[in-house]
Amino acid sequence: MARFQDQVVIITGAASGIGRATALAFAAEGARVIVADVAAEGGQETVALIRQENGEAMFIACDVAQPEQLEQLVTQTVQLYGKLDVAINNAGVGGLFARTADVTAKEYHRVVSINMSGVFFGMQYQIRQMLRQGGGRIVNVASLAGLRGLPNSSVYTATKHAVVGLTKASAVEYARKNIRINAVCPVFTRSPLFDQLFELDPSYEERLKRNIPMGRYGQPADVAQAILWLCDPHNTFVTGMALPIDGGMMAV
Ligand SMILES: NC(=O)c1ccc[n+]([C@@H]2O[C@H](COP(=O)([O-])OP(=O)(O)OC[C@H]3O[C@@H](n4cnc5c(N)ncnc54)[C@H](O)[C@@H]3O)[C@@H](O)[C@H]2O)c1
Repeated sequence: MARFQDQVVIITGAASGIGRATALAFAAEGARVIVADVAAEGGQETVALIRQENGEAMFIACDVAQPEQLEQLVTQTVQLYGKLDVAINNAGVGGLFARTADVTAKEYHRVVSINMSGVFFGMQYQIRQMLRQGGGRIVNVASLAGLRGLPNSSVYTATKHAVVGLTKASAVEYARKNIRINAVCPVFTRSPLFDQLFELDPSYEERLKRNIPMGRYGQPADVAQAILWLCDPHNTFVTGMALPIDGGMMAV
């Protein structure tokens, strides 16, 4: 039997990049995948890619900056499939590159409402459902910027540190309720979000790679496989972890 056969999995930000790769990987292992995103066209494309491979997926429009839409996402998922086994809080934005003194209040609130509040309220509704049904697994997508400071991205860095903090505190709260909660901390992963950097300055492409011990960029599928491992039903004792997916960068 496939590793995630008939398990119900919500993935936010699944219209693109890491979220899409994670949706495809879960579906390939038998899961029923809810593709949640503000981007309807990309979300429907992810669903079509899954169905082409005979997988099961549905798109639900959801803006993670709106708590009531996160509540609806869980409600609709449970109406469709009767349960929620796994939730991946992946939707996020990079924010504009600027030093702290130059960040506008509007930009600050935009990044916080998506990257931090989106994960907090997402987990709140997911955990309530998991408590009702007796368990579940959550993975939040943080960043290496959740473990280190990324210059010119202080708000992004703060939100990703917050995601790691929310993960740890909640993991401890629900450790005896059969709910495992972990985070992944990717870096330099070739998604549309990351590739924007090379539009700013194409010389970054060679320069940044030199900092990665493995000498290559990450691919969305690299992050997806780590997420699947954290959610594996046989992986029962790992909770509250923030796992770097970084080609060895944190080891230097
Ligand atoms: N690519 C990297 O190098 C990297 C490194 C560290 C962390 N991350 C994190 O990985 C996650 C996924 O990023 P990615 O690189 O795949 O980027 P991406 O831009 O390819 O995908 C992000 C997805 O999130 C969606 N999204 C944005 N705002 C949303 C909202 N308000 N509600 C719902 N969906 C929304 C977008 O539509 C998009 O589909 C993000 O949380 C990002 O911070 C990425």
